Order: sequence, then C-alpha cells, then structure tokens
Amino acid sequence: MTTRIIGTGSYVPDQIVTNDDLAKIVETSDEWIRSRTGIGERRIATADSTSDMAAKAAQAALDQAGVRAEEIDLILLGTSSPDHCFPNGACEIQAHIGAVNAACFDISAACTGYVFALNTAHAFISTGMYRTALVIGADVLSKLVDWGDRGTCVLFGDGAGATVVRADERGILGMNMHSEGAKGGVLTCGSRSNGNFLLGKKPELGYMSMDGQEVFKFAVKKVPECITEVLASTGTPKEDITYFVIHQANYRIIESIAKRMKIDPARFPVNMEHYGNTSAASVPILLDEMNREGKFKPGDKIVLSGFGGGLTWGATLLEW
Ligand code: ACO
Repeated sequence: MTTRIIGTGSYVPDQIVTNDDLAKIVETSDEWIRSRTGIGERRIATADSTSDMAAKAAQAALDQAGVRAEEIDLILLGTSSPDHCFPNGACEIQAHIGAVNAACFDISAACTGYVFALNTAHAFISTGMYRTALVIGADVLSKLVDWGDRGTCVLFGDGAGATVVRADERGILGMNMHSEGAKGGVLTCGSRSNGNFLLGKKPELGYMSMDGQEVFKFAVKKVPECITEVLASTGTPKEDITYFVIHQANYRIIESIAKRMKIDPARFPVNMEHYGNTSAASVPILLDEMNREGKFKPGDKIVLSGFGGGLTWGATLLEW
C-alpha cells in the first residue's frame, strides 16, 4: 500500500505587485529581477492570512477529490509563516474547513515544507495508521521580509497549494528527506532575541536574511543529488520521468539543475514569473496548475523536489 494524490487545489491573493511596483520602493529594476530570477510579478496578501489561503486551497483540493472534510484523518501544513505560534496552522485550517476527525500539525522546513509534509503523510499512510490526509504548503513571506532590503524583498510572493492524499495501490514510489543544520545560517528568518523582565527588554523578531550565492550553490548541488538518490533507490531511469516539479525559487537555479542532470529543461515546468518564490506553497501550486491543465496522465512518473532554509532538501517520486 502506498499514498496517492487524489485531489489538488491552490489559492493566491488577488493583489499583483510587479517588478516595476517594487522599483518604486527599493533601488531595483524589472530587468535586474527578471534576468537574475525569472520573476516578473508576485501576489501579496493584504486581507488573507496564511490559514485563510491554506483553507481555500484545501477546500478546492477536497472538492476536486470528492472527499468530505470529515473523512480527513491528518492535516499537515508546511509553513514558515503560520498566523500564530499556537494554535498551529493545521489546526486553524481544520477549524476553517470542519475536518473534525483530523490530527493536525505543522512541518517547519521552509521552502521544503510541502515535500517534507507529503513524505511524512506517506510515512503515516504506509504504516496503516491513517488513510486520508490533507497535505498543504502555504506561506505569507510578505510579512517576514524587510521591504527595505532589495536583496530579499524582490524574490518572494504569497500563496497556498494543497493536495488530498489517500492510501492506494498506486502513488508514491520513493522519497527522501535531508537536513544540514550546520549550514542553517545562510538563510534565516524571524530570529527572536531574548527578552524578559530580567533583561529589561522585550523580545524582538528579526526579518529574513539570506546569503544568496550560498543558497544558489546549495540548491544546484543538493537537488540533483536527492533526485538521483530517489531514482536510484527505485531503479527508475531519469528518461522515465515526465516532469520534475521543483521548488520555484529562481529560474537560473532550475536551469542549472537541468543542465547538471543533463535533462531537457522543458521537463522542469516553471511558474515563478507570475508568483515569485512562494516558499512551501510553490510545489503544490505548480502541481495544481498542471493538474487542472490536464498535464498529468495516469501512469506518468513525476519527481517533486524542494530545498530551503534549515538547510533542508528532499525529493518524492510518484506515479500519477
Ligand atoms: N536589484 C538591483 N540590484 C540588486 C538587487 C536588486 N533587487 N539585489 C541585490 N542587488 C545588487 C547587490 O547589492 C550587488 O551590488 P554590488 O555589486 O554593488 O554590491 C549586486 O546586485 C550583486 O549582488 P549579488 O547578491 O552578488 O547578486 P547575484 O547575482 O548573486 O543575484 C540572487 C542575487 C538573485 C539572490 C542570487 O544570489 C540567487 O538567485 N540566489 C539564490 C537565492 C534564492 O533563490 N533564494 C530564495 C529563497 S531561499 C529558497 O527558496 C530556498
């Protein structure tokens, strides 16, 4: 018994912010952002919270799957920007959609959050502990970036993507998850300084900070490694893979991964031009777009891969 994606959904806020809009608040240009990242615009949440967006994506996935919220045994939310420290975001989604029978918790693995959540759901389902799960990636990084820092604020957008997964004969064939905490300093966010009455100050929350070139090097090394690993562990030649659905951080990263793996970049779909880097939401948003466009046929083999803060990275190989 394995785990199969039986429904997908996604949601992005209405508000579009173009590169030209950002050039009005920091010293940058459409040409600089497009040529280095492939990003043209992003959606920024003004009314929606992370759990609002995630619940809308989840409901769309449930509707497509024809599954009632009460049938969900487990909700896993990959996020770095939950509305609160507690209750966790998955519990808030549960309340929104009425999934009263689900156990709910968040997975904190930055941009790898959805892939780690999917692999975790698979671990529960393949042991027989749960049958049906909602696996969601959602982030509102617009509330975590310093809008005066051109090195980071141009990269991100807000959104949510969701999948309903269920125990089945066909589905996930292999997966892996990796972490390297010792390199965590290259990409950090929201570090909370100590603050209490003994210190005479309140805690302060920091913004995102990133060593872009180190993140770039990390991604183009580790993503090919984990994809190669999941293919080898299942005896699957790379030629058998219809699509490689990779975290949408940056077009140049994806291009370099394709080149390094000697795979036609056309098999690495991209949508960051319209959404920017939506962190944990990017893989499930792209999956949902492709699914609704009818790009996947039963039997297609698809690789999903995420990479991000932690550092964390991992891959999933599945048969649609
Ligand atoms: N507009 C104009 N100039 C800028 C901008 C901007 N938005 N941001 C930085 N610059 C400037 C810098 O100040 C620097 O100027 P200087 O030479 O006068 O000092 C110059 O551009 C070059 O800066 P670099 O940081 O060296 O630029 P680089 O070519 O490395 O591109 C980028 C930066 C796009 C961030 C690149 O390093 C990258 O793609 N890294 C991957 C990081 C990533 O995608 N992170 C996403 C989040 S993490 C994740 O999802 C896993």
